[in-house]
Amino acid sequence: MKSRRRDDGERRPRATTCLVSLPLLLIVLHLPAPTAAVDGGISPPFTTLDAATLWDLSQLDFTAARQEFLALQPDPDVYGYDGLLDKIRDEDTPHMKNQVYLDWTGSAVYRASMVDAVAEDLKKNLYGNTHSINPSSMLTEKKVDEVRERIVDFFNTTLSEYSVIFTSGATAALHLLSETFPWSNRSRFTYLEQSHNSVLGIRELCLHNGGDFCALREWEVNGERPESSQCNSCGRTELNAPSYIAAAATAAAAAAAASSSGEGDKASSPREPYHLFAFPAQDNFAGIKYNLSWIDYIQKADNVCGKRGDWRVLLDAAAFVPSSRLDLGKFSPDFVTLSFYKLFGIPTGLGCLLVHKRSIDILRKVYWGGGSVVVAMTQQPITVFKGNPCAKYEDGTLNFLSIINLNAGFDSFDELGIDRITRHVWALTQWTYEQLMLLKHSNGHPVVRVYGKHGQGDSSVQGGVISFNVLRPDGRYVGYHQVQKLAAKNRFHVRSGCQCNPGACFDYLGLSYEQVSTFFLNKESCGDEKDVVNGGTLPLGAIRISFGSLTTFEDVQAWIEFLKTFYVDSGEMAAWGVEVGVQENSFNGGGHWAIFGDQTGARVA
Ligand SMILES: Cc1ncc(COP(=O)(O)O)c(C=O)c1O
Repeated sequence: MKSRRRDDGERRPRATTCLVSLPLLLIVLHLPAPTAAVDGGISPPFTTLDAATLWDLSQLDFTAARQEFLALQPDPDVYGYDGLLDKIRDEDTPHMKNQVYLDWTGSAVYRASMVDAVAEDLKKNLYGNTHSINPSSMLTEKKVDEVRERIVDFFNTTLSEYSVIFTSGATAALHLLSETFPWSNRSRFTYLEQSHNSVLGIRELCLHNGGDFCALREWEVNGERPESSQCNSCGRTELNAPSYIAAAATAAAAAAAASSSGEGDKASSPREPYHLFAFPAQDNFAGIKYNLSWIDYIQKADNVCGKRGDWRVLLDAAAFVPSSRLDLGKFSPDFVTLSFYKLFGIPTGLGCLLVHKRSIDILRKVYWGGGSVVVAMTQQPITVFKGNPCAKYEDGTLNFLSIINLNAGFDSFDELGIDRITRHVWALTQWTYEQLMLLKHSNGHPVVRVYGKHGQGDSSVQGGVISFNVLRPDGRYVGYHQVQKLAAKNRFHVRSGCQCNPGACFDYLGLSYEQVSTFFLNKESCGDEKDVVNGGTLPLGAIRISFGSLTTFEDVQAWIEFLKTFYVDSGEMAAWGVEVGVQENSFNGGGHWAIFGDQTGARVA
């Protein structure tokens, strides 16, 4: 979906001017006295909400801003599912009242009616452990199988194409794949730099089996070398980025020719060693959507990144599927991983590994447990696994009640429609980005620095995530931790730090390996209060707001107003009635920790 506004001079973004000033004034008046700095000027972790500091969200009136936003939409159905969202948020999400939830990439939020539907189902039906022929067991088995059907249907595929292996989440699915993938000492695990930590962990299994690994940037996979960029050598000198895709494309053409003559089916003639290429459909740091046609290229290539063999593709779909359609009828990665709470909010502790039929037989099961074997000998190491791949890889008792509970989530998504969710989320993302770009200090300097591809105005490359840092009038950064703390006090649910995505985070922030090793090895977590160094010029993470199926215009507008109130012209400092400064700290070897907000002492220029 391309942005309509980019080509329309009349519709350039304009700042909204329709705000109620009284509540904002109240916010300022309600702010507490600054607390004393502790422990070398770094604040203690934020643990409690002080009711006196809360911004009364219910008093904010965004009517005019909303009209302006709606007028920008190409048709009335783009935002809010034709009025359904307002009804849902009024009547079906009591737990979201007077909260601004902007962490949908962290987790979706469930509707009250989903909880009711789950409770009703559990009260009505007697579900028992599977693997038996008693009535409660068979009912469970039937319902679980129906949910498997529903999952593949949602991704436009069938159970004859993909096996649905239930896990406790995306990470557990990645872990399972890492342990069963047929690594050898000639294998390579190649992944996009912007991969989540849970994907990066797979490399340990590859290394453990004697293989190697390679991290590629997006342009390297695309074979487009930006000027002055260095190709990743992956430990080899012969690499030349454009050759990855060129080699893949040549191999794809050869494979197409071979398959028309009945040759070349990977499953029937594996070209070992096996290698794995992994990338996120959407990354969880900046929300970039990556090119799904890489799947086909890589699968058909026999030489990727200088490595010959049988390349299989893992698509980490965890951050993509909650608001984008994944069509496995069109793209068929060998493996797909996801967590269901990211789509529906409930249940937690449930995800899956989808395995394409062409790759199920290459997996090598090592550990096994109850449920996955037909028979195991005790005196001899003899085990017979179940033939059904789902059962074979699902050790122990399934999380059967949670699996059945997924019906409530799918019902909700059926009602909203995944394509409508995409449009809805995109409209909000674009509006928020444009409003953020309009925020300026009175000296004309920007208030935020946004990471990602928002500027392209294209929903096929940018998802519903805005990752950014706040800037002071002099261009130095406000620590993300400070912003998050103040936001949390005002009931904004946002995230900060590197979001478990070091590749994307370090790349956007321009952190060198030397800087990472200097600064990060002393941190306790990637989102802790050590948030900005070198006199406020170098942030060690960012703030992430992310939108989902039930995000409203009011949620995003409240965030924009929050930034305006507290950060334009150092509004935060003015509002808190304190001064701001840069404090010496021995932590970074002679550099500076910049401590902003309510903690410290030097005057803002
Ligand atoms: C892109 C991506 N992959 C994997 C994961 C891991 O998911 P989980 O923590 O649910 O296992 C996440 C979690 O945020 C994610 O965003």
